[in-house]
Amino acid sequence: MAGLQAQHESVTQLLMTTGSLTASEFSAAILDWYDANARQLPWRISPADKAVGVCPDPYHVWLSEIMLQQTTIPHATRYFLDFTQRWPSVEALAAASRDEVMNAWAGLGYYSRARNLHACAQIVAEMGGFPETAKELIKLPGIGPYTSGAIAAIAFDEAAPAVDGNVERVTTRYLAMTRPLKEIKSEIKSIVTDWVPDERPGDFAQAMMDLGATVCTPKSPDCLLCPLMSSCEGRKQGIAASLPNKGEKKAKPIRKGQVYISVQNGVLLAERRMDKGLLAGTLGLPTSDWVEVSADSIDKQVHSAPGDAKHLGQVEHVFTHFRLLLDVFEVRKEIAESAIVSGQPEYVPELESGTAGFPSVFRKALNCYLSPA
Ligand code: ADE
Repeated sequence: MAGLQAQHESVTQLLMTTGSLTASEFSAAILDWYDANARQLPWRISPADKAVGVCPDPYHVWLSEIMLQQTTIPHATRYFLDFTQRWPSVEALAAASRDEVMNAWAGLGYYSRARNLHACAQIVAEMGGFPETAKELIKLPGIGPYTSGAIAAIAFDEAAPAVDGNVERVTTRYLAMTRPLKEIKSEIKSIVTDWVPDERPGDFAQAMMDLGATVCTPKSPDCLLCPLMSSCEGRKQGIAASLPNKGEKKAKPIRKGQVYISVQNGVLLAERRMDKGLLAGTLGLPTSDWVEVSADSIDKQVHSAPGDAKHLGQVEHVFTHFRLLLDVFEVRKEIAESAIVSGQPEYVPELESGTAGFPSVFRKALNCYLSPA
């Protein structure tokens, strides 16, 4: 309690001694800017429509927020349109099979999100609709502190904070907060909570995200277009572009392995990966083990080429915790089958379906087969 009190005092002091706008002046400036500059997004109700009483669809808000975790807006948009056309309501999504959802998600990455999405849809359909507060939303699978705040604010106009990377950037720059981001996350959340207005909290959340994404951008903020320009402490001190302070980035470890492509009579041997671990439950290709190698021995052969296999190339894919290099081989069916150890074989009429349904790492490998260099 004493810690929280001290934190609140330091936040209040920071707000008084730096940025010259009060919380209500700050939110008014942000909302005015949003009224003129809001991006048009397929899940969004424009400020003009919102003002005349059009309500966002909570299913659209939830689906877009889950897709936008770790994914850019242009990439997520295609998937959002595809999902809402196929499954126009949370009940329709709940009634789909998990494999259908996993296949439709393929290419968006972070596959635990797709499993949680489907589990969440089933709970919400059973409940008869989405809960309307951040406190209740956070209890659902796949919904954390940011997403619960964003859905509560955008779909239900609860005055809840929604602090994503964009909002952290705007806040740390506006108040010239130079301490490492990791140490000041809860301070940032308290500050944003103070700023959230009782009127239009959903528009405020989206305005902060848009400002961070289009004006207060990571590398070269366009301060001349910013509604906060004259009171931004980071700009005054000439340090805006260097914030937030993310510390040193560690190089990712590198893993190497082989991936096997076997096609007989136009049918590709694939693998439904097991339910646990990386890419769990997705459609994959058979592979060898992935072995960690040091940066200076990348070129070293990790596994010898199987029998009469034909080397088609090498692909690289970056996961959250490591870089993966896979040598792609076209192999006989027995070799590919023997590499399926923990998953289940699945036979894909590849010429019809192309690479749809596969996560990016396997799409890259399939492209070596479909369009050889
Ligand atoms: N990033 C994540 N959610 C967003 C939203 N609702 N609007 C704009 N950018 C976002």
